[in-house]
Order: sequence, then C-alpha cells, then structure tokens
Amino acid sequence: MVQIAVLGYGVVGSGVVELLQKNREEIKKKSGICFSVKRILDLRDFSHLPCGDRFTKDFSDILEDEEITVIAEAMGGISPAYEFAKKALMAGKSVVTSNKELVAAKGAELLHLARENQVNFLFEASVGGGIPVIHPLYQCLSANRVDRIAGILNGTTNYILTKMETEKADYGETLKRAQELGYAERDPSADVDGHDACRKICILASLAFGNHIYPETVYTEGIRDITSDDILLAGAAGYRIKLLGSAALTESGDMDVSVRPTLVSKAHLLANISDVFNGIMIHGDAVGETLFYGRGAGKEATASAVVSDIIEAASRNGNCPFVYWEDRKDHRLVDGSAQKGSFYFRTDLSEDALLSVFPDAKKVCADGKTAWIISSISEKELREKTKEHLLISLKLFS
Ligand code: HSE
Repeated sequence: MVQIAVLGYGVVGSGVVELLQKNREEIKKKSGICFSVKRILDLRDFSHLPCGDRFTKDFSDILEDEEITVIAEAMGGISPAYEFAKKALMAGKSVVTSNKELVAAKGAELLHLARENQVNFLFEASVGGGIPVIHPLYQCLSANRVDRIAGILNGTTNYILTKMETEKADYGETLKRAQELGYAERDPSADVDGHDACRKICILASLAFGNHIYPETVYTEGIRDITSDDILLAGAAGYRIKLLGSAALTESGDMDVSVRPTLVSKAHLLANISDVFNGIMIHGDAVGETLFYGRGAGKEATASAVVSDIIEAASRNGNCPFVYWEDRKDHRLVDGSAQKGSFYFRTDLSEDALLSVFPDAKKVCADGKTAWIISSISEKELREKTKEHLLISLKLFS
C-alpha cells in the first residue's frame, strides 16, 4: 500500500481523489500498487464528506508523516505550493503537480532538489491537461534534437474562440461558461491574457532545450483584442484565429519563444482543434512532425495526468533520470517583433493610403468590413509604417 497526500481540494485535487477511488482496481491491476489517500490539505471545511476525517489544515501533518511517500500538489499559485513542494522533496517525498505557474517559475530548482534527494518531481498535468506530452517529450523523443514546438495550450481561450466563431457567442458569457466547466483559472486573466499558455510553452521549451526559460522573458499576447470581425475576416481569407504558444531554435542556436493569437490555415491540423481541446506539435530532427491532442483542461482530464504521475512516482522510487533541465541563464531569446513573416491587419487608413505604403497588401472583405494580409515584413516594420492607424495585427502561422 502506498500512502499519498493531496494538497488542495479544488477542481483538480478532488478529481485526483475521486479518480484514485473510481479506478482503484484498474490501477492496482496495471501497476501492482494499491494507493490510499491518507491526508488532504485544504483550509476549507469538508468534514461533511465521507473522507472528511482525512482533511487537515496543517501541512506538517503531511510532512511529518513518514508513511506518506508521494504528495500531489493541486493548490495552484506559487506560494505556499513552492514552499510545501520544497519541504516535501527535502524530506524525501516525491511531489507531482498540475501547477504550471510553479513549474514555470521554479521547475529547475525543484528538479534539482528532487535529484539531490533521490525522489521524483513530476508535472505531466501542468501542460495540456490530460494529454500525455511531457513524458513523450523527455522519454519517447529523447533521441531527437527537438527544434520546434507550436500548440494550442489553453483550453479556455480555445473554447472562447471556437464559440465566437461557431455560435457568434458573446465573449463574456462564454468565459463565464468556461469558468463553470472548471476550465478557467481562478483569475481568468491568466487565460485570456496568455499567461497560462506562456507558462506552458516555457515548461515545454525548458524540457526540449534543456535550459529554464522564464515566462517574464517571453513575448505574450492574449485574445482580449480579437473581435468577431477579426474572426469573420480571417475566416473569409481561409484562416482561423488560434492562441498559439511556440518555441523554436534558430540556426544560430537562439530561441524564439512567444504566445500570440495567430492565423492558422483552415487546412492545418491545429486550426481544427476546437473547444477545450489542446493540440501540440513537436518537431524532432529524426521523427519529424508529431501531434499530441486531447482535453486541455477540466477535472477528470487533469486528474488523469496527475494520477499517472502518482503511479509513476511510486513505481520509480526516485529514479527518473531524463526529467531535467538546467538554469544556466545563458540562452538568448530572439526579438520576435524583428522576425519577418506574414501578417493580417486592420487599419483606419483609406485603401489608397494603405496601398501607397504597402502596394503588395492583399485585401480581405466580409460583411462590409476590410482587413489586409501582407507578407515578408516584420511586426516592427508594420507598426512603424502604420503608426496610430494600426487597429490590430496578427501573425500568420507558417
Ligand atoms: N485554465 C487552463 C486552461 C486550465 O484553460 O487551459 C488547464 O491548464
């Protein structure tokens, strides 16, 4: 019997407890291990639940309990999750987490601590909800030089963008629905302003490139400024707007990491990933292009990934040699605004004025509205040439 503790009884934490209970026999059959949730940390009162006697408000009840060997952290946020994870690892307990904010900010340090203390720090649920993507990246693709990752990494914004397109839904109401479904962050600005996707692309890039990429160093743009006109006009030009996180290695070895709403051709696989689903493309030099797809948020999907980490932590006993990255701070991030590409944009310039500046711009019309698409230009140059007349500019995926 392996005794575990769960920190936080919110959407994810309660999902973990319920899944361990529901699939108890299945898990035992596959892993040979019987799990018991001995303690649950939460400041709220859950004494009315059947498992009410396992709740504690005091972390030391868990830390000092030698029978508890694996801790699932599902509290979210950095503090006190960071302090608890650190103490647990130093006390020789494995920690698994769904907390992308924690991993993106403190991953290198916690991985190092886990290694020093010969325990595991695992975080499959921190990216892509229930989609296996962290393990494939460090295990199944370990023979590759991974040079490009691009994906829809936030379920809430993908749900909102999908409903805005298919149901002409109102932005605010759709966000509220995403919150009710348990998709959105406690502070949904983390979703709509791109910070959640940024943390996730930083975790993937850190794993792929072996060096900690901090979210505050990454260009991040959310979906707040996207209007139904943009969705309509992009559609008329053959594209869908998706919030993409991307990370690429340039030829000189610099890293190009960003999060931005992007126009993706309707023919591309990523454009056809709808609702709360996430899709992550990873390119390796040997394997070529791969795509990971599934539910990117929600109680059971996220619990699926946390519980599989619990099983792995209990089975491996501290022996997870490949999950690691360093914190060398010696990498260079390229200035994405100087990179040439193709852009969709709207402006309040007259058509004549616009074409005198950009003779090659292609006009897009729908429902009496106009937008433009232009190639071989950097965002910097586009901004410099349109100045205060630029209403919105979005990159095309290539
Ligand atoms: N708020 C996140 C999302 C939850 O919508 O993707 C899963 O990380």
